[in-house]
Amino acid sequence: MKKFAMLLAALLLMMTVFAACGESKDAASGASQPGGAASSSEAAGEESAQPADTGDGDNTLVMATNAFFEPYEYYEGDDIVGIDAEVGKAIADKLGMDFEISDVDFDAIIPNVQSGKASMGMAGMTVTEDRQKNVNFTRSYATAVQVVIVPEGSDIAAIDDMAGKKIGVQQGTTGDIYCSAPVEEDGFGEENVTRYNKGTDAVMALLSGKVDCVVIDNEPAKAFVAANEGLKILDTAYAEEEYAICIAKDNEELLEKVDTALGELIDDGTVQKIVDKYITAE
Ligand code: ARG
Repeated sequence: MKKFAMLLAALLLMMTVFAACGESKDAASGASQPGGAASSSEAAGEESAQPADTGDGDNTLVMATNAFFEPYEYYEGDDIVGIDAEVGKAIADKLGMDFEISDVDFDAIIPNVQSGKASMGMAGMTVTEDRQKNVNFTRSYATAVQVVIVPEGSDIAAIDDMAGKKIGVQQGTTGDIYCSAPVEEDGFGEENVTRYNKGTDAVMALLSGKVDCVVIDNEPAKAFVAANEGLKILDTAYAEEEYAICIAKDNEELLEKVDTALGELIDDGTVQKIVDKYITAE
């Protein structure tokens, strides 16, 4: 009888050790008892039936952006910070996913999302009919308007004065689309527009006199003017734009999840809190 009880106790002990090893790889390998170490290889074999460790795999929400667009996304040292960076991270947290930002050219964001290289595009990206043909958008989380940056003392005082002037834009943005449209369509003609990969490069060109003005979204325009002396912003009558997150057409499931998470973050004031951190009301 006593022998039986001891056998049972030993069996129970063995089962506990195996169970512990199956639970977590790290815990098993960290075990210092030789017994634990010996059984861990067996346990590891069993573990292949469990979902793979998702450090960089399926469980990472990869946000494609173009990080020269303060206050939405920009570099602070090696880190990309800004409203989109923080809201994106908050969405990933809500979904229990890891988060990664991939900095690409603005006009590569939608192709990256379509090909699955990125899970979503978030870049102060305006919802347009053309873009909607290629990707789906979540609800909007911000609005913007295109404005014109000119050097102080410029003879450009209003949109009409831009006719025949050299206009700098960021490639593929709504500013680019509006300005390079033919004159009959309220644009200034492709031939008058110089496209840059980054908003920063367009502003550099303006500072060095290569272009006469830059058309870009209002908040980044404010940041550029604050960071560089001798520039000012003209108000324009361009239509209000809506920023949203884009997701691949064939990924309705992720669209639904990200849209719901974003909705919750808007409703509970998190998005506003993040915006207030980066944009001070004037
Ligand atoms: N709102 C504009 C657009 O969607 C410009 C966005 C540029 N964003 C950026 N992260 N560089 O076309």
